Parts: sequence; structure tokens; C-alpha cells
Amino acid sequence: MISVIGKAQPRVDGPLKVSGQALYTSDHHFPGMVYAVPVCSTIANGEIQAIDARAAEKMPGVRAILHRRTIGRLSRAAVNHEFGADMVHLDETRAPLEDDVIRYYGQYVALAVADTFAQAVAAADAVKVTYREQTPNVDQRLAPETAQKLESERGDPVKAFAEAEIQVDQTYDLPPETHNPIELHASVALWDGSTFTLYETSQGVVNHRNVLAQMLGVPRENVRVITRFLGSGFGGKLWPWTQSALAAAAARQLGRPVKLVVSRRMMFQSVGHRPRIQQRIRLSATRGGKLTSLRQDWVNHTSILDDRKENCGEATAHMYSVPNLRITSALARRNVGAPTPMRGPGAVPGLWATESAMDELALKLGIDPVALRLANEPQIDEGLKLPFSSRHLKECLSLGAEKFGWSKRDPRVGSMKRGGLTLGWGMAGCSWQAARFPCAASVELRDDGTARVSCATQDIGTGTYTILAQLAGERLGLPLDKVEALLGDTRLPPGPLSGGSGATAAVVPAVLEAAGKAIDSLLALAPNTDLQYTSGRVHAKGEPASSGIAFEDFLRLRNVRAVSGIGSSEGSGAFGTAKPTLSSHSFGAHFVEVTWQPEIARLRVSRVVTVIDAGRILNPLAGRNQIEGAVVMGIGMSLFEETSYDPRNGAPMNSNLADYIVAANADVPSLEVHFVEVPDTNLNELGARGIGEIGLAGIAAAIASAVHHATGVRVRELPIKIENLLT
Ligand code: MOS
Repeated sequence: MISVIGKAQPRVDGPLKVSGQALYTSDHHFPGMVYAVPVCSTIANGEIQAIDARAAEKMPGVRAILHRRTIGRLSRAAVNHEFGADMVHLDETRAPLEDDVIRYYGQYVALAVADTFAQAVAAADAVKVTYREQTPNVDQRLAPETAQKLESERGDPVKAFAEAEIQVDQTYDLPPETHNPIELHASVALWDGSTFTLYETSQGVVNHRNVLAQMLGVPRENVRVITRFLGSGFGGKLWPWTQSALAAAAARQLGRPVKLVVSRRMMFQSVGHRPRIQQRIRLSATRGGKLTSLRQDWVNHTSILDDRKENCGEATAHMYSVPNLRITSALARRNVGAPTPMRGPGAVPGLWATESAMDELALKLGIDPVALRLANEPQIDEGLKLPFSSRHLKECLSLGAEKFGWSKRDPRVGSMKRGGLTLGWGMAGCSWQAARFPCAASVELRDDGTARVSCATQDIGTGTYTILAQLAGERLGLPLDKVEALLGDTRLPPGPLSGGSGATAAVVPAVLEAAGKAIDSLLALAPNTDLQYTSGRVHAKGEPASSGIAFEDFLRLRNVRAVSGIGSSEGSGAFGTAKPTLSSHSFGAHFVEVTWQPEIARLRVSRVVTVIDAGRILNPLAGRNQIEGAVVMGIGMSLFEETSYDPRNGAPMNSNLADYIVAANADVPSLEVHFVEVPDTNLNELGARGIGEIGLAGIAAAIASAVHHATGVRVRELPIKIENLLT
């Protein structure tokens, strides 16, 4: 039995990517294809009075200027609460061009279609749109505009806080952040008179198909969505955005393939962002360091039409033992595009606030921040009142402290020096839900000696191709070069979203079952013999595998080209239908060192040690890569990332990669990642949880705490700017 699970396995799709053979969505070309470029509104609030397309229509190569009256019917999709094959979800629910009302800057108002991209850009520029403009509301101060919704409550936190010996009461702000995967959103749409074939940048092809079928008014069977490779998404590509429906509608109107690539600037306007969030945290404790109350009241901005709650309380209720707790949420409407999930939605912003407050509490108490967390470790999930499926936060804290050398920390502000630099050491805990989506997969054994595993899920750069191949290879006992993995196509068995860190946990049971059934089908070819399958060979039961023949020879002997099996698994946790009986989460801890040079106000993150409890790690290479990538993103979140809206016209001002700063190589020190590998077999038979998001949780609080330790300045508004630190 060869074993490929748990091995550091390089990406099976790596050679295709580095040799340029991997076709991304916008790489697809078809004969007769035309290019579509949206006309974007230049106001954020108001109404279209007139669209004058006469000049644009006469320009070279222009096929059409499509607008509300000429694009053909586009309907709204009826959103449901499914997570499987029937899921219908999107964040901007209004069908594009549905009315003449403008609710955010950059809202699409028309579509220029031409023979070349340059002609379409020029034509879009030449469309004259007149508006009746009103002042947009992009105000940064958020006050609840909806009733505060109670998210979780226990005990009497008001009384406990009032009576407590030690209290912290602070507000933590997070600006809007924009997903900036290097691959731009894109749609290439084909219509043959009955069926749409849509090449999309999608983290969920099945949902994308279901949504587009409804918007276009055709049966699901008449829409095929394909996403073979994705240049990442970070949540920004979880749901369909309006450009997809526009490209499909244009293909329908013109009878030609249509390519629409969203520009980087448009990515800041119309394909989602993490919303602005303000969180008031009230914590209280005894002098000895036992938490007595915790309150979290947050407001997040949302668009004018859609209610998107950023679930900041996701980790709060189970993180620590505290008898009195109350969490509330509220929304504030702004003239912005619809917010959407961004890596670790809810928990990432939530832990930024609650873990920062824990550090402030530790300081007030004069207790080490690691010790404070260890002293408040819960026995059960006190929010859900359920046992934990598997919780090893204490091990993460202890191992992280040991690897980092935390015991050498002098808690006095600015007291630690190295080579003329002031050091700051900070830490934080983290958590992210462990759930799995419903999933189906198929495995085929073929007479050329290879196997094929297929599932309509996606690889967003995280390593899903490799995980599928590993799972099938493990169960079939075949080396990875004998296993082909196929995904990103709605013609395959319906698979999970690449989101919520729920894909890996979902494909494990489905692929293992499918492979088992493929073996059953193989052996059933010789029904009256007592055969067994071992590592690619068919042999008599009880005899060694070497006594038998290779499965491909067995297939040929029976004149069969291939046998296959289908496997499926139910969703669980947040993505399941059954009431949970266990509290299922991943945990972790970050330890951060910053260096500070007050003379020239230079701040650097110089060292990060992260320990993650995510159950069994199927591929340590891809796993570590996920955590490292998340920590890099966390450095960006902490020090750079912020989308700024112009108060005059509501435009995202820094809508490019020069002005919206993400962490680059020079900002990132060497990162140390460790896993506490305790398999969580309640989630699936291998005990593997998803790891796409947990690494970003808590990192901002750890950095802000390290900055405080170095500088004495507590920054409660991200990103941490140099001007905040000049005292
Ligand atoms: Mo993740 S924000 O669910 O792609």
C-alpha cells in the first residue's frame, strides 16, 4: 500500500502553470469572438437621465452599445439557503441594468461591444451618460441604522461588567478592504441558441450555473460553467457578479462569443469587498485574570439594496470561558457596491477586535497575554452549549510560545532591543469554523492503467487538484502520476464551493467512497470469483498482490474500457442541514515580532511564528503555503490595506495596485508555521479540516499588540499607519 496522504506533495497542476499551458478564463478565445467593456457610472447616488450612444455606435469595430432597453431580459435569481447542488446565492441581487437608479460608483449602466478590446474601451468611453446626481453617503463613521440584532447571549453581561474589578471598553475599526487576486474577474460567454457555455472566474461553478440559469431564464441543464484554473479569489469570486450576466446577455443578443474582463479599477467598484466595520468590545475580569463578561457590538456597512452582515461574532462565543456575554450586530447603508466574503469573513475582523481587547486586558491585569488565554480555556463551547469536536488551542499557545522564545519577553514597553532596533513582541489566538459542504465525486479506473477523479469543485490556487489526486491515489493505491484530477466544470458531479475552508473536508469522504465503489465495479466484472484489489492489482483473495494482474490488464481481459464509482457526502456544521451536535472549529496562535526605529519612524514585521490546529494535514506543503499566504495577507491587513472612498462622488480613490497597498516580498520576514496534528475524525474519516482561512484570523491583533509593546501606542484603527505611532 503506497501512501500519499500527509506527504509534502508538489502541485500536480504545477507543470501546466509554470509552462503556460494552464488556460485561465480570459485566455479562452473563440472564432468570431467580440469584446465587451462596461460603461461605469461616474456618480454613486442618483439616476440616469439619458444615454447617448450615437457617437459610440459609429466608431470602428463597434457591434453594439447595449443598455437597459436593448440588452434583453435579465431576471433576478431567487436566493435560497442551500449549500449543495441546488444552491442559489449571490451578494448583488439586483439584475444588472434593471432600473435607472445609481446606487454606487462604477455601477454598470451600459455595455460597449466591439471586434477588439481597444475598440470596445474607446466606445465605452464615448458613451455619454447624463445623470441627476445626489450627494452619496460614504461616511466613515458608522452608527447602527438597522435594529441591533442579538447574535448570542448568556448570563448578565451588563451587571457583571458594572461590578467587575478590571474593565476594558474600546472600539476597534476596520476599513473596507478590496480583494486583489492577480487574476482579474472575467467572463467568456457562448450561446448556441439553446445552451450557454460560460467560462468564468468562479469559486463555485455549480452555484454560478444555478444563478445564471435563473437570470437568463433557461433551465439549469442549458447552462454549463467552466473554471479550470483560477488566479485566486479570496472570496471575491465566491458568488457571480453582474459582469457575468451582462456577457451572457450580450452573447445572446449578438449571437457571438463575448469576452468581458473586469479592469482592476472596476474590481474596486463592482465585485465585492470586505465592508467597513466598527466593533465596541467590553471585557471584564477579576484581578486574578478570570473573565467575567464579554460584549461585542458591531456595525458593518452594506450596500443600499443588499443586507450583508459580516458575522464578526463567529468566533467570539466559543473562544474563551466567560459566564456573561452578549453579541449584537447592526448594519449601516452606504452608496457602495455589495460587500462580500473576504478570506475569513466575520471571524477575521471579529478576532482583530476581541484579541486586541484581550491584550489590553492582560496589560491592565499585569498578566502575560498567553497566560491570560490559558487561564480562560473553556471546557465546552459555551455559546452553543456543545462539546468541541476537537480543540487544541492550549497546545497551539504553548508550542508557539516555545518556538518563539516568548519566555524571554520583557513586558515593559520599548524595553527590548536588538542591533539598535526596538523590538515589540505580541501574540493572539485564532479560530475558524470547521464545516464541510455537500459533495459528490466520481472515480474511474481505465484500461490504460490510469484513474480519473472528477468533481465540480474548483482549485483557486489552494491545491485542490492535488488533494483530489492524493485522495483517489491513496484509496486506489496508485502513484499520483497515474491519477488525473478533473474539476471546474458543471458537467462533473456537483462539488463544493471553494470557500469557507469547507472544500477539502467535503471531498475527502466523497472521493474515498467513489474510489471504493470503482473498485467494487472492477471486481464485479468477474462476479463468481473471489477477488481482491490491492494497490492497482487484482488478485485472488488471501493471496499476495503480486500473484494477480494489473487492473488495466484485468479490464482488457474483460474487454471493458473503464469502470467507475460515484461517492457523495452530506454537508455538516455551518454548511449542513442537521442540527450540530458538536462545536467544530480550527484553532491557532500567532506570535509576532516587530522592529521599530523611532528616529526614522520605521516599522517592520520581523518574525512570525504560527501554530495551527486544523486536524490532519493532507499535504504539508500546500498546507504550510496556505498559512504563510494568510499571514502575508495579515501583514497587509494590519499595515497597508484600506479602500478609500471619495466623499464627493463616492469613488474608490485608490483603485489600483499602486495606491492600494498589499504586502510585498520586502514586507514579509521568514515565516514559521507549525501544525498541531490531531485528526478531527468527527468531520471526515481522515480527520482533515480546511485551512484556507484560519491563518488570517488573529494576525492583525498580534501585530497591533507587538506594535504597542514596541512603541507604547495602541492602534485600534487598521491599518496601522506611521502617523499613528508618532508620539
Ligand atoms: Mo472564502 S471568503 O469563503 O473564499
